[in-house]
Order: sequence, then C-alpha cells, then structure tokens
Amino acid sequence: MSMRPAHAADLAPLARLWWQGWRDAHLPLVPKALVARRTLDSFIDRMAIALPRVRTLGPVGAPLGFHLIKGDELNQVYVDEESRGAGVATLLMIDAEDRLLEAGVTTPWLACAIGNARAARFCQKSGWTRVRPQTVPTEIPGGWYPLKIWRYEKALAQPSAWTARGASELSESRSFAQSATEANERPEDRPRATTWTPVPPTLPN
Ligand SMILES: CC(C)(COP(=O)(O)OP(=O)(O)OC[C@H]1O[C@@H](n2cnc3c(N)ncnc32)[C@H](O)[C@@H]1OP(=O)(O)O)[C@@H](O)C(=O)NCCC(=O)NCCS
Repeated sequence: MSMRPAHAADLAPLARLWWQGWRDAHLPLVPKALVARRTLDSFIDRMAIALPRVRTLGPVGAPLGFHLIKGDELNQVYVDEESRGAGVATLLMIDAEDRLLEAGVTTPWLACAIGNARAARFCQKSGWTRVRPQTVPTEIPGGWYPLKIWRYEKALAQPSAWTARGASELSESRSFAQSATEANERPEDRPRATTWTPVPPTLPN
C-alpha cells in the first residue's frame, strides 16, 4: 500500500470519512454548539481547501484515511471506520512524520479532543507525549471556535534513524493494512505502486 497525494476524485469520500470520523470520536466530548457547526457540508468545504496538502492511501475515489499537516502541526489524522485497527493509522503517522521532518519540523504538535481515548492511545503508542491541556481556535464556518484539547508533541528522530525506523515499521504495518484492505478491494482498484521508498528528508538545522 502506497501513500499518495489526494486526488480530486477523493474529495467527496474524504470529506465524508472526515465527517463520520469526527462524529465517531467527538459527539460525546465537545460542546453542542460545536457539534451544530460540524455539518457534512462544512467538512466538504474544509476538505476542498485542504485537498492539495492532504495525503492519503487506498484506491483513488475510495481512500482509507488521510493526514493533513499545517506548519508544525499534524492537524488531522483520520482512518475510515472499517480500516481502523489494521495498521492504516500507523502508515499515515509514519508518512506524516516523514513529511514534517522533510519540512525541517523536529518537534511537531497535534491536538486531541479531551477524552478521545482511542486517539490518545494511538498517539501514545506512536511515541507522542501529552504535554498539557490547551485551548486552541478550531475552524468553523466563518470563524473559529475555542476548544480545550490535549496537546501532544513528539521529538522526531534524526532523519537517518527515522528513515530506518520508518521503513522497518512500514513493512510490518503494511502486511496488516494490506491484508485488511485487499479483502475489501476490487483488484482493478488497487494502487499500482506496491513498494515504498523512504524519501531522504532535508536535514534540519
Ligand atoms: C485515531 C485513529 C486515526 C487511530 O487509528 P486506529 O486504526 O483506530 O488506531 P489503532 O487501532 O492502531 O490504535 C488505537 C489504539 O486504541 C485502542 N483503543 C480502541 N478503542 C479504545 C477506547 N475506546 N479507549 C481506549 N483505547 C482504545 C486500541 O486497542 C489501540 O491500542 P492497542 O494497539 O494498544 O491495542 C482512528 O481511530 C480514527 O480515525 N478515529 C476517529 C478520528 C480521530 O479521533 N482522529 C484523531 C484526532 S487527534
């Protein structure tokens, strides 16, 4: 399974995946005022803007998950409900950290809704540390909503060590993710590239 940039054909399915995943994780946790603003249309609008920076995996038009980086923030990591627990999230995280390192970011951060236990566990096992609660402006139609979150950070390894670790973790994760995915894929939908070549990141200062 290869990571790839999102295509125009991924827009609608990615927006729906994001909307559904957000609801799965956040409905019981965040204020009703925020829930009311998180409509499917709002995710379509946000995804349309984010798409050029979104990386995903799975067949074009049927993505399994995505990540979105904004500066030094890993802004979003989402996996389709049916692909959770299969290693897809680890593939996304490895790729996101690789992209961050490539951009010279060595201590990225991410926001996790307070109480999002599954995401918190995933962050923890991916080597991220919960550093403190923080109130951040979260995007809503026409403005921002202040949301208290858990802030996570990770000191990324030096690129050489990173590349070696990423390649080894990827080969383990890929076998999980691939078997889970292939069961749901038509052969003609499978991505053509099946190998992953680590991109040597730019050395940070
Ligand atoms: C967060 C997300 C990307 C992680 O992907 P995933 O495929 O679920 O990740 P994994 O299954 O590899 O890891 C989840 C871990 O949480 C555990 N877990 C599952 N449900 C849990 C729960 N209710 N409470 C605590 N831990 C839970 C799993 O057992 C697993 O830990 P383990 O590997 O030690 O057994 C995915 O669940 C998702 O898209 N969630 C909805 C959107 C979201 O919350 N995004 C993150 C925003 S910060």
